[in-house]
Order: sequence, then C-alpha cells, then structure tokens
Amino acid sequence: MLPPLRFVLCGSVDDGKSTLIGRILHDCGQVFTDQMEGVAEDSRRYGTLGGSADLALLMDGLRDEREQGITIDVAYRGFATSRRRFIVADAPGHEQYTRNMATGASTARLAVVLADARKGVLTQTARHTRIAAMFGVRHIVLAVNKMDLVGWDRDRFRTIVAAYRGLAEEVGVPEVTTVPVCALTGGNLTRPSSRTPWYTGSTLLEHLEAVEVEQPAAGQPFRMPVQYVNRPDAGFRGYCGRVVSGTVKPGDRVRILPAGTPATVASIVAWRDTRERAKRGDSITLTLEPAVDVTRGDVIVAGDRPLEVADQFQAKVLWMDDAPLTVGRRYRLQLQTREVGVTVTRIRHRIEVSEGSRLAAPHLDLNDLGVVNLATSRPIPFAPFDECRELGGFILIDRVTNATVGAGTLTFALMRAANLNWHDFDVDGEVRAELKRQRPRCVWLTGLSASGKSTIANLLERHLVAEGRHTYLLDGDNVRHGLNRDLGFTEADRVENIRRVAEVACLMVDAGLIVIVSFISPFRSERDFARSLFEPGDFMEIFVDASVEACARRDPKGLYAKAERGEIRNFTGIDSPYERPERPDVHLDTENHSPEECVDIVLRHLA
Ligand code: ADX
Repeated sequence: MLPPLRFVLCGSVDDGKSTLIGRILHDCGQVFTDQMEGVAEDSRRYGTLGGSADLALLMDGLRDEREQGITIDVAYRGFATSRRRFIVADAPGHEQYTRNMATGASTARLAVVLADARKGVLTQTARHTRIAAMFGVRHIVLAVNKMDLVGWDRDRFRTIVAAYRGLAEEVGVPEVTTVPVCALTGGNLTRPSSRTPWYTGSTLLEHLEAVEVEQPAAGQPFRMPVQYVNRPDAGFRGYCGRVVSGTVKPGDRVRILPAGTPATVASIVAWRDTRERAKRGDSITLTLEPAVDVTRGDVIVAGDRPLEVADQFQAKVLWMDDAPLTVGRRYRLQLQTREVGVTVTRIRHRIEVSEGSRLAAPHLDLNDLGVVNLATSRPIPFAPFDECRELGGFILIDRVTNATVGAGTLTFALMRAANLNWHDFDVDGEVRAELKRQRPRCVWLTGLSASGKSTIANLLERHLVAEGRHTYLLDGDNVRHGLNRDLGFTEADRVENIRRVAEVACLMVDAGLIVIVSFISPFRSERDFARSLFEPGDFMEIFVDASVEACARRDPKGLYAKAERGEIRNFTGIDSPYERPERPDVHLDTENHSPEECVDIVLRHLA
C-alpha cells in the first residue's frame, strides 16, 4: 500500500470544493448515518440545493461558516479507501482567506485545483496554483468541475486545460493531470462518466489512490532541528526533534549549528527503547559525546555536510496582513523552532498572480506575492526551500500583535554572515560616560505635529545643559534637512526615518550623551524597535499628548490648515494614523500643563 497522501483542495469560491470532497467521502462510505442525518437537516436550513442533501455541508465544519454559506478555516479531514489513506485540507476560496490556503499547501504533497467549466481559469485559480507551487507542491490535478453545465463539451475542457498548462509550466509544476468531473453526481470523480467517451484517463479518486509523490530520500544528509532539550536529571541530556532529512546512527559525526560545534552521536532514544538507526520523519532523542552546548532551535547536522549559516537572504513572501509589508520595519521570523528579529531590506518585485509578471512595489499588500531581501538579527542555519522544505520555509510575525503576517521560502543566502564581524574596542560606552560624569540616555518624545514636542525638547535641553550635562537634540524637522532629506511622509519613509534616527540616537548614547529625540514617530512598532536598541532603563518614551483639535487650533506652521485643504497628503492625525503609546514612561498632557510643568515632570523622572 502506498504511503498516505496529504493533499490540498483549492480553487475559487463556488468552484465546488466542498461538494467535491463531500461526494468523495460519501461514495467511499466514510459518512456515518448520524452525520448524514445532520447534513439532511442542515441542508433544509442552509443548503443551496432546495432541500436535497447538500454534501458540501459535510466539509464545512463550523456552524457560523454554514450560516454564511462559505468556508473560512482550513478543514483537515482524514479518509481512506481500500487502497490508500488520505488527509485533505479544504482551503477556502475567498480571496480574504488566502492565508488558509497557504497553510494547507505548506504540508501538502499534491494539490487538486478546481475550476468551474463555465468560468475557466480565474485569478484566484492562478493565485492558488502559484501559492501551492511556492510552498513546495510538485503534483497538481486540475479538476474541471460542473462539466454537466456545459453539456460535457470536450472543446470547452480542452481550452481550459490548455490555459492552465501554460500557468503550471510558468510556476514550475509541469506535471499536471487533468480530469473533467461533475462533483454533484460523482461523474469521473468516484466512477467513470458515460458522458465523456472522449476521456480515457482514470477517475480523480483512482488517480489519487495511485499517484506517487514522495521523492526518494537516498543520499540526503542528516538534519534534525532541536525542538526540546530533555534533562530529567543531571545524568541524562537528550535532544529531541524530528529528522527532516537523511539518516543517523550511533557513532556518526555531527555538528551543532549555528555554532558549528562538532560531536558524535552516542545513542538514539525512541519511545521506550534505543535504536540503531533513525530516518527522515522519525521523532527521536539523540544523546551526544562529549556534552556540548545545544539549545532549542539549533540544528544537528551531518558532520561532513553542514548547512549554510547566514543572516541575509533572498526570499519569496506571501503577505497575509491587512497592514502592508513595509521595508525597514522589524518583524520576527520563525523557522522551525528558531525565532529571530528580521527586517525586509528591499522588495525586489511583486509577482502579478495571473501572468507572473514582475512589478516594482514600494510595499506588499494583503495576499500579494513578492521577492524580497531579508536581514535577520542573528545568523541562522537554513537550506534553500527547494532543497529542504522544513529548513527553508518560515513565517513572519508582528512584534506588537504576535499575529502571523506573512509566510515565505528562503531562496539563497545573499552574503555570508562570517564576512562581517563586530569589533570590541577598548574605549567603550562606559568609559565615555564616566568621563562626562553622567548616565547617558535616550529621551524619546512622540506626539502629533504641534503637540509641543520641540518646545519641551528645547526647554529640557536648556535645563540639562545648565546642570552641566552633555546633550544632543535630534529634531524631526532638522534631521529631515540633512540625513533624512531623501525621505517623505509615506508609511515606508516614516519607518525608515525612525529607524535611522533610532540608530543615530543609539550611537550618541554610546558616545556618552543624553539624547533628546523629538519626532512624531507615529507607529508603535518603530518606537518599540527604538527601545529595543537600548539597555533597559536607558530609553524613556515620553508621550507629548494633545488632541488633534488642539494641535489644529495651535497650528504654528499652518500645516493643519493646508492638510485640511488637501494641499498636504499623509498628514499625521488628518489622513495618516498616529498610534498612541499604550504604556509610555511619561505621559504629558500639554492641553492642561504648561511647557515648564511638563519639563519638571520629565526632570523628576530622569532623576
Ligand atoms: S515622522 O512621522 O516621520 O516621525 P517627523 O517628526 O520626522 O515625522 O517630521 C514631522 C514634521 O514634518 C512635522 O512637525 C511637520 O513640520 C513636517 N511635516 C510635513 N509634512 C508632514 C506630514 N505629511 N505629516 C506630518 N508632518 C509633516
């Protein structure tokens, strides 16, 4: 018997995915009587078939999905025929749920792509095909559904197949099997249809039962990401994980990455006993000789064929968040169990989903596919995704909300991390601070234009200098005359504006200064990034708070008036957002306190 087949079912809304899988389950005898009764009742309430059993309802697991008549999550379902076991991910067809489709594809070996015979290859069909290919699916079955509605027309089928083949070739999946089906009745799905004498291939189900999708594992080097370090007592230390490629046996020489530490496998512990050999797919615990340093997220690899370790990559990304992917913004990257900080340093291009053309793009929006350069905060061991799915696939996480905002695949390393080194010099920040007899710090003022930042910054610096402190004032308007003169007020430019000024402030603190930063800095994510550059306590976030209305009334530079007249675009508080600090170190209410009172509050806090 062939190994179980994991496949993903995709296609546009209303192409008939849930009906197709419902019909397969039903015809395979996988539906129990009580479930059928449930379906019959649901069909009367929510069905689209005038009261007769709507098999799509079998797959749509959640009640509120049924009530909307759409599928919103990935429904996984196991079923079996006498020949094979299957796990199918039913991905929703709506564009806003593309992320679920990617989730389904990332563990699938094969994709069944549905197309409606009346509509042919739609944008969403192309998007799903592209995503399936991107996440490593190498086998595709195109099922042209609702053939009954086009009178089982052979030419219609051939036209759709020809259009689809062009797409499949372009995305690098030349192996496509095509079947004309009617999911509603099961024609060419579970039994041959009498209406297609011109079709000589197998039914969809027969094909799925027979298709071989596993690549031979021979010759692949041993690789195992460490999921957990098991130390039940001082006498035992084991490294648990799942072998993602190759084989391992006691006595093998290995290396621990990213450090590169060599060791020898002492034993392989599995459930209850020890083993002489483990292979791809096995979950095991390794013990090593000598006792080297290994932590969760490290990768244990064959000693003579280690992985590359790098911190700059070219990668493909599917963006899955409502807020666009922005160059320069910090995210977290998770690859297996390792998590590191990451920034997209450049969007090389966006990929247009239907034709595959490359388009210049300042940012990536929801469901966009793009090729980007990434820089991670620390070097990570990896393999190009085409070589190893497990060590080349990653997700991107928002640092503030912890939501998964993107998924992608590493293509290659751009520069070996080893080519850049951090030098430790003898004169350091501590020496410089001591010489100035002060504690260097970054006082970061954030708030709307005209909220009072510059006024407070100015007064504060005068006070500090009068006390004999060494200071520097970085002000938005001023820095934008020089270092940041190339930046405007789009989201991406503001992110870069704050990244640069935060790095400069960090250097100045290292130089021993008390740095006052006065920038609108409207985004939480970048203010958090700025904080992350400093030692705890060396960064003070000060929220200079005044309502938009109050700022517009003050309007010292006449900018609010211009923005209201539409003469300035992306003006903070008018047509560009300001994200209020949630937990600032100091909150100044400039509508009810004078600048002098505000400065007193800050000085007390600094002391
Ligand atoms: S930030 O958003 O990127 O932090 P920054 O503090 O550097 O902004 O610059 C803000 C200053 O630029 C404002 O005080 C104002 O004088 C000027 N400015 C010009 N256009 C805009 C705009 N569209 N939005 C906000 N400020 C603007």
